[in-house]
This record gives sequence, C-alpha cells and structure tokens, in this order.
Amino acid sequence: MTRRLGVNVDHVATLRQARQARYPDPLAAALIAERGGAAQITVHIRGDRRHIQDHDLRRLRESVQTLLNIEAACTEEMAGILLEARPHRVTLVAERAGEVTTEGGLDVAGNADEVAAFARRLGAAGIHVALFIDPDDAQVDASRVAGVDMVELNTARWAETGDIAELVRLARATSRARALGLAVAAGHGLTLHNLAPLCAAAPEIEEYNIGHALIADAVFFGLDASVRRYLELLA
Ligand code: PXP
Repeated sequence: MTRRLGVNVDHVATLRQARQARYPDPLAAALIAERGGAAQITVHIRGDRRHIQDHDLRRLRESVQTLLNIEAACTEEMAGILLEARPHRVTLVAERAGEVTTEGGLDVAGNADEVAAFARRLGAAGIHVALFIDPDDAQVDASRVAGVDMVELNTARWAETGDIAELVRLARATSRARALGLAVAAGHGLTLHNLAPLCAAAPEIEEYNIGHALIADAVFFGLDASVRRYLELLA
C-alpha cells in the first residue's frame, strides 16, 4: 500500500506568531511540501490561535493543490469556521485550554451523540470527517457508530515511551478499525526514528500526519529535503 504523508505546517505559524510577524508563511511551506511529494496539508486551528490564524485557512483553502485537512475541536466557534473554510477534510480533535499540545484522543465513546451530530453537520456540507482517537477498542467502535469512515490514531504514547506495547496497541486498533471498514491515519509525535517501526507494525495505516519533527528537521536540512526524507521512510 502507498502510504500518504500529510505535512502539518502549524509550527511554521508558531515561528511567525512568536514575533507577530508576516513570516514565515505556512502557505509558502505548504506549497514546498506539496512540491516535495506531500499528499495533504494539515493544520490545527486552536481556540487560542497560538499558531494557525483564521486568515491562514482562507489562503490555504484557495491555494493548496492536494488536500487540506483541518484539525479542530467540536465547538460552535469551530463549526462556523469549518463550514466557511470548507476544507477537504476535518479531523475532530480534543482540545484543553492551556495544554502544550493535544494531550489525548477525542473521547468519542463518552460523547457519542455530540460527536456524531457534529460530524453529520460537517458531512452534510460535503466535508470528509475523521476522528482523532486513542488506539482503544471502545474508541474505534464508537467512531464507527458515529458514522465516520476514517480515524486517525494518536501515536503520542508510542512517540513518548518507545514502548513496544504501544506499537501492539496501535497495530490492534488499526486491524479493528479496518475490520469495521474504517480508513486509518496516524499522527502525533512521529519522527524519522519512530516512524519505521510503526509502519512495520501496522502496515494498514494509510496516512501519516507529521508536523513538529518534520518542521524541526527542516530547520537543519531545508523543508524540501525534510519532506523527502519522511517520504523515503514511508516508501
Ligand atoms: N495529528 C493530529 C490530530 C494532531 O493534533 C497533531 C498535532 O497538531 C498532529 C497529527 C501532528 O503532530 P506532530 O506535530 O507532533 O507531528
């Protein structure tokens, strides 16, 4: 299976916002990533707007040539923004004010009706919806019941611990999701070091969304070279 790379350009915006400047531009990064072979551009619009801003969504939507995947929380504010931006895909995530980064997957099992209703609203507008979940049976099953056809598995624990038990969990959740007819993506904390073991353990993961490490590598190698390194690993 060809594995797709989604490049998350949030941290280009993080650098821009650190100075409240006009550069570096996440759209410029997105276009370089696409030219390097990325299949998708991913951004997370957070309630606190610490990196991606509303105007970035408009510009990305106009200019991204591949697919635009916007990660956002299930809030009324985000519903309005997403329905206006109309990206190709929305990945619904959990968000806690003040967190350094996304701390866990969306609790679909615990908020089934709310998540399903939110996904339906976006789906009715022609937006493809995926759910970012922890690799747990209950969350996978609940995602199927919520009516989506794709999940993104949270790889943060694998990235943080390097524990083989986490790889096994991700592989099991992938198989379960596939058996239920769900497409499977993965992301969070993935690097040039921890990506290959995950690809080997869960070959049915078809898409990887990678941001922090890929943009960090770009500081040293350049963005085009960084994207190509991740693509080589995925191949
Ligand atoms: N996927 C999701 C759902 C995320 O929330 C994030 C972080 O915004 C990523 C992927 C990318 O994670 P990282 O920046 O650690 O590669």
